[in-house]
Amino acid sequence: MPNPNVENYSEDSYKQKFLQTRMKIRGLYMALCLTLVLLFINVAAYQTILGDNSKRTKLFAPSDKARKRRQSADVPDISSSPTVFESNRLPMTGNSTIGYTLNTRLMASVGNGHLATTVYSDTIFVNGLYSGDGFKGRSHRAAIPSPNNIRATLPSEGGAVRRFALDVEKGVFFETVRTDQVTLEQRTYAHQYYTRLLVTEVHVTRAQSVMDASDIIIDLTSSPASDGQDFVWDPVSSPSSDSRPRSEVHMYWTPVPSTITLPSSESQISASFITSIDTDQSTAREAFEIGRQFARGDLYPTHLEAWRKVWDAGRIEVEGNLDLQKTINGALYYILSSLPAQNHYGTANQFYGLSPGGLANGKLLQDYQGHSFWDTETWMYPPILLLHPALAKDILSYRIHVRGPAYDRARENGHQGLRFPWESAFTGVEVTPGDICMECRENQQHITGDIAFAARQYVSATRDLGWLKDENGWELIMETARFWKSRPTFNQTRGLYDINGVMPPDEFHHTINNSIYTNVVAKLSMEFANYTACLLGETEETAEEVESWVTDVGNKLYLPEITDENYHPEFEGYPKGELIKQADVILLGYPLMWQMSDQVRRSDLNIYEKVTDRTGPAMTWSMFCVGWLELQEYSKARQMFQDSYSIYVKEPFKVWTEAHQGLGAVNFITGMGGFLQAVLFGYGGFRLHVDRLDLNPVLPPDTDRMKIHGLDYLGSSLDVTVSSDVVTVNVTSLGGDYPLEIRAGDTSYSLQEGLPVQLPRGPASIATTRQDSNRCTPPVAGDGTAGLQGTTWPWVILLSLLVLSTVIYLILMLKRYCATRLSWGKTRRGEGAVPLMQMTDIQEQVS
Ligand SMILES: *[C@@H]1O[C@H](CO)[C@@H](O)[C@H](O)[C@H]1NC(C)=O
Ligand SMILES: *[C@@H]1O[C@H](CO)[C@@H](O)[C@H](O)[C@H]1NC(C)=O
Repeated sequence: MPNPNVENYSEDSYKQKFLQTRMKIRGLYMALCLTLVLLFINVAAYQTILGDNSKRTKLFAPSDKARKRRQSADVPDISSSPTVFESNRLPMTGNSTIGYTLNTRLMASVGNGHLATTVYSDTIFVNGLYSGDGFKGRSHRAAIPSPNNIRATLPSEGGAVRRFALDVEKGVFFETVRTDQVTLEQRTYAHQYYTRLLVTEVHVTRAQSVMDASDIIIDLTSSPASDGQDFVWDPVSSPSSDSRPRSEVHMYWTPVPSTITLPSSESQISASFITSIDTDQSTAREAFEIGRQFARGDLYPTHLEAWRKVWDAGRIEVEGNLDLQKTINGALYYILSSLPAQNHYGTANQFYGLSPGGLANGKLLQDYQGHSFWDTETWMYPPILLLHPALAKDILSYRIHVRGPAYDRARENGHQGLRFPWESAFTGVEVTPGDICMECRENQQHITGDIAFAARQYVSATRDLGWLKDENGWELIMETARFWKSRPTFNQTRGLYDINGVMPPDEFHHTINNSIYTNVVAKLSMEFANYTACLLGETEETAEEVESWVTDVGNKLYLPEITDENYHPEFEGYPKGELIKQADVILLGYPLMWQMSDQVRRSDLNIYEKVTDRTGPAMTWSMFCVGWLELQEYSKARQMFQDSYSIYVKEPFKVWTEAHQGLGAVNFITGMGGFLQAVLFGYGGFRLHVDRLDLNPVLPPDTDRMKIHGLDYLGSSLDVTVSSDVVTVNVTSLGGDYPLEIRAGDTSYSLQEGLPVQLPRGPASIATTRQDSNRCTPPVAGDGTAGLQGTTWPWVILLSLLVLSTVIYLILMLKRYCATRLSWGKTRRGEGAVPLMQMTDIQEQVS
């Protein structure tokens, strides 16, 4: 909880008061100027005291308007629907000399977790299908030539306008052109129910008014990639003469003719082009037959229905800010279309992880080659866990599936348990290109802790004992913890354990000792294993062993001490002020929920904000946004929120680039994950603890209402609606195993299906009332607040004195000024504004 004393003196309240002052007083220019100067001096004084120089960035950062203008400079999205991203041009690349081609980097993609393609690209990618030597870091998504790269043109389009639209609600890319004679509509989609299918439909409809109709011939072109380096097309049965391990992939597709004709006798014609792909031949063949059979009618409705179920199960709605709503929908769509379809036909294939570029990207040496990093668990996973826990389980199942090589990796280095690779693909061996970043490959070991933390959050959200017992969840939790108990080395001098030679999330520091993030995530992993042993009622022997990891190692891990300036050094010997790449220490507060005082949280945010590389990846700013919201620093949070998406989202289809100016990997779903966390965990204020789900919502910038549909907790599904002063929690389906109650202040209400609970907006907590559920003591780890509170008071007193002196000075000055020169103008109270007490007092004195 924020310290109210400090909050009162925050820069925010100054700004707000200053604005209200300006609204109320007309004509007092002199007084106003002086007030401004004084407030400024005061704010500056506080900032020096609190170590905050971020004001500079804020004052000179471009305005929201400027951002919007820049954002819409290229190919604007002209649709006013929150789920349709539409334009009359496609993003192009090139120049007038070499000519222009489609900029596939900024093009929309369609996918269903099994297969995905960038629309009008020549390539399809399939989940888990990689090619290239993993040991040399050349494992990449195998590029399958796409027969669905189809373009249709009418014989004469005259001045007709083409429209291109990605409809994320439907999961369909539309291209339409309308002339006096006909309408041509082309749809491209990765079938959300028959997941082996990629479908292109062409529909031609004659305009009603055309009297003397004639044949209309539509030209079709399709240009799949040449076979390329990733495939050898074999006749199905021929045995391989090559000794290298090979994956089989089977593909069936409809040949594309060069034209289709709408006969003069008909008013309408449709054609469907279907591609079916699977690693299993009979599955691919069966799907293709189904596709052909249903092509005349049922294919499209079943696809729409499956997507409707996805959105019904979880989405975020904001009112009053279309731009934000579209960005949210786009981010969720692109992440979801890289995850397994939930309502699908037939058996599901093993899921092989989320990559920073999603399933539609990852060619050789591009877009991280389709590998999975910590991005998966730390960035994309948390919003998915709250909205679609079954998909969160799929993500974890990937790590479980490829744990074999992770055991080997730990053993090779003389450690125990599971050590996951920094980059992972099909087999789970380390596939980080050593020639690009050897230290990333060897030292970025925090990923094992990140995966363990994701498992902890899954158990916190679901208490899925079946997963723990029967689907290797407990093994994942225990064996990652075992790695951490075996990894540290004992430091005789300190009498504590060190984790030396690591790279923290901040990749500018490649071989350091005792990264605070790494050590904390390691400690949390061991603590949670101990908790889970209790939850599962493990044998005394196991429980004792796991507990000893916490008591002998976890509790004796060295954590770089909080300095005099009340902040966490990033690692042992971190020189304050040194440039860092991205959010690192600030991740302790969120997502790790490491307990610390508000002063330390504030200093961490202030200190690292100044030294974080401005050209770094988007999700850094989302984490600052979450941090500032915790401290109720709304204007700082707003700035960081803007920074977390506006410059990374590319129009018209809301594709994200990793870095500024359209550079880096596309379609950067890692950044989208961070951004969605800023919405849910930042503005929503959700914190998933082992024993409860906290919330403390506040409306995102420029919105009137936020509604989270289908938030899942302990088997129940909730709708949470936030307005400026009320929060409504409505259970739409109650999971029988864990009855829930919501607590706000001293009052608690049981949550019943169809009986919404309304609370004043503020902190609240949802937990189960089940008797046996708190049998195990939930781990709570943090700095401990001892010693810190004491150092705060002198500053608080000093700050109070400064404010008081300013106010007195102001009153005296205004009084003198007003008495001699002016009478008060009309005052009008701003709608919803907090009355400004000192001004009212003056008014009374004057009149
Ligand atoms: C890390 O610790 C090891 C072992 O004490 C030491 O040799 C090494 O110099 C330390 N590295 C740094 C960067 O301080
Ligand atoms: C281990 O878990 C048990 C059961 O929840 C708890 O009582 C105990 O305090 C934990 N041990 C440590 C060292 O955290």
